[in-house]
Amino acid sequence: MSSTPEIYVYAHRLTRRFDEQIAVNQVTFQIARGEIVGFLGPNGAGKTTTMRMLVGYLLPDQGYSQILGYDSVRDVYEVRRHVGYLPENNPLYVDMYVREFLLYMARLYRVGKPEQRVRAVIEQVGLTREAHKRIRALSRGYRQRVGLAHALLHNPEVFILDEPTSGLDPVQVQEIRALIRELGKEHTIILSTHILQEVEQICTRVLIIHRGKLIADAPLQELRRLPGRLPTVRVRFRLPPDQSLERIASQIEREIPEVQHVEVIPSENVIRLTGSRSDHLAEQVFWFASHRKLPLLELTTEEHPLEEVFHILTQDAARQPSPASATPAAHA
Ligand SMILES: Nc1ncnc2c1ncn2[C@@H]1O[C@H](COP(=O)(O)OP(=O)(O)O)[C@@H](O)[C@H]1O
Ligand SMILES: [Mg+2]
Repeated sequence: MSSTPEIYVYAHRLTRRFDEQIAVNQVTFQIARGEIVGFLGPNGAGKTTTMRMLVGYLLPDQGYSQILGYDSVRDVYEVRRHVGYLPENNPLYVDMYVREFLLYMARLYRVGKPEQRVRAVIEQVGLTREAHKRIRALSRGYRQRVGLAHALLHNPEVFILDEPTSGLDPVQVQEIRALIRELGKEHTIILSTHILQEVEQICTRVLIIHRGKLIADAPLQELRRLPGRLPTVRVRFRLPPDQSLERIASQIEREIPEVQHVEVIPSENVIRLTGSRSDHLAEQVFWFASHRKLPLLELTTEEHPLEEVFHILTQDAARQPSPASATPAAHA
């Protein structure tokens, strides 16, 4: 018997307009228990609007969403009970003290044993030494920890974090990312960001949104390898004095049928091979080298960096006519 994964977050053709503009356009995805999903897109792409609909702060014009099977509109109280939401800009009562604020919220949410719970979340997010301070007196990074502590109070299964590291300095960014990775060990997380590197560091899967439309939904590895585009193998030999890089390159081209393109990079002593199946290609290169007793110094499969993938995908999306934009985007 195959078991279907439990779907913790589900969006079905979620759509939201503001006047004439479609901010979120027929967005459909599902997130299974335990996934850490990056919701990636440039400013104005529709990330915040989508997240606000997921937690029931904004009504969709069309479509619907569910958290743990509860409808974001009809069952909004159940949804909030199971979700820890960190809104964009993390609004907090800045005149309150950290512990006081969290205790106030814990009582408001009717969390059991509020003092104990507050102590636990303060420790969990690393706020112990700041707990007696006014929120106003904290750095942005520590305020963000208060926001996370707040989202954690009622021990939700799912976290929806809207640009959790935006506006933080580089050290704080790394600390908050580490905290999110830690949370991800036991929770399901969707976090929005416009930073590719963040997705690479934290997430197992990425959803890319561009002008309100979902243009990619894939595990990270798969996206880097860009299905449909040819993988590249990079190879470096220790050349015997009587051999030239060009000659070896042309032998490889003749003898390995999968090779479709050969490029010689003399400055690095490297040959780049493009072919249909990278694993197989790399193996063939290995045998090629071993038959000739050519020492292999390097044999790697190049992945497309995520930056490049994002560029290609958004370019592709820009070429398709979009109802949200009045003029067609210029081609780069
Ligand atoms: N309350 C609103 N009123 C009018 N337009 C809005 C409102 N909220 C968002 N928008 C517009 O919808 C688009 C998507 O915004 P948003 O979801 O905030 O994007 P992101 O979070 O990806 O930066 C933007 O063009 C934004 O200006
Ligand atoms: Mg936003």
